[in-house]
Amino acid sequence: MRISRLARSIDPSPTLKLNDAARMLRARGEPVIHLGIGEPKNKAPIAAILGAAAKLSEGNIKYAPTDGIPALKKAIIRYTEENYAREVKPENVIVSNGAKQSIFNILYSIVDPKDEVIILAPYWVSYPQMIKMVRGVPIVVHPEEGTFYPRIEDIKQAAGSSTRAIIVNNPNNPSGAVYAESFIAELVDFCETKGIYLIMDDIYQKLIFDGIIVRPGYDFTSKEVENSHIIVINGVSKMFGMTGIRIGWVIANQELVERMKSIQGQTTSCPSVVSQAAAEGALTGPKSAIESLRLTIENNCNVMLQELGSFKGVKVTPPQGTFYCLPDFRGHSSDSVKLAEFLLEKALVVTVPGKAFGMEGYLRLSFAGSVKDVIEGVERLKWALDSTSPREIYIGNQKRVRDWL
Ligand SMILES: Cc1ncc(COP(=O)(O)O)c(C=O)c1O
Repeated sequence: MRISRLARSIDPSPTLKLNDAARMLRARGEPVIHLGIGEPKNKAPIAAILGAAAKLSEGNIKYAPTDGIPALKKAIIRYTEENYAREVKPENVIVSNGAKQSIFNILYSIVDPKDEVIILAPYWVSYPQMIKMVRGVPIVVHPEEGTFYPRIEDIKQAAGSSTRAIIVNNPNNPSGAVYAESFIAELVDFCETKGIYLIMDDIYQKLIFDGIIVRPGYDFTSKEVENSHIIVINGVSKMFGMTGIRIGWVIANQELVERMKSIQGQTTSCPSVVSQAAAEGALTGPKSAIESLRLTIENNCNVMLQELGSFKGVKVTPPQGTFYCLPDFRGHSSDSVKLAEFLLEKALVVTVPGKAFGMEGYLRLSFAGSVKDVIEGVERLKWALDSTSPREIYIGNQKRVRDWL
């Protein structure tokens, strides 16, 4: 069977692959702990459930405007005005099937074959693959050794005449790092001056710790949405833990939104109207839903840091947001794929190899699950790798003895 070269060049999502592996092991009755997950365990806010239920019971479940139902757009405009201090018109908003589709629509609208898009390591796994899917070229700028922060000079140097956009995810998946305000300010200035789009993926904007304030890109320009090169991505997946609802959106200039609307109209049409009603419910419902999720995640983060604190050979930079951290495991192995496989086999713990994020030698650990999973998961990792930890452990109800260190 013939498969296109382009399709063959696209890697499967490593995180979705790991989910499948974990599911299969669990189905065989293995006591797997999943420290790779990208979604919290919370229940959807009641306002979201009621919104979706009301739409369903109305029984009128039809196609809707491609770029989103007016009521949801109104809620997104209010959210944007509150969080970004910018006036937004309905023509500046397009709602999609999750932020993933939003990002794809943007790239499809601005990238021609061989155009370049700069991404900052550690980067979210889907960015390079999506750039390849629109026949563009991902250009990776690496951070300074031992940090998660690239130098602005390196980004400027990587930008050439073929550069169409720079993608910034702040706070960052997989490191949990928040970029310095001065860094974002310089990036905004550089992009506005050069006419390069600055794609700000703000999907984890509300999941931040220790009272940190993450200022949006718009804070560093006087330009309005309509004439700025900043494109904002957001959605309900992370801030409300509603990953299955599949609603994300973009705020951008009108012409770009119009292009994205054409692309979406020819591929998926409008996102599910039931999901849009749920998203509208969440956005217009009590704000305490976001805060209660944030508090749970912050508590989990503290537990994770406490557990990792005594892990010999592992260096962790405390995350400032998201539900991930990206400890440096080079004290144990420089091959993160092999290390993750070893840990799944011996300790039955799912981790995500740093290689997938452009950070070889690191592993992404998620604390989106339960505190119990975080504690037991890290204990198993220590048992597998740290010779100073006890040689015996119970995994499920089976006693295991470490015989390889
Ligand atoms: C950085 C980043 N952007 C976008 C997305 C996609 O979110 P959605 O579930 O809305 O498609 C994710 C999901 O993991 C993510 O981590």
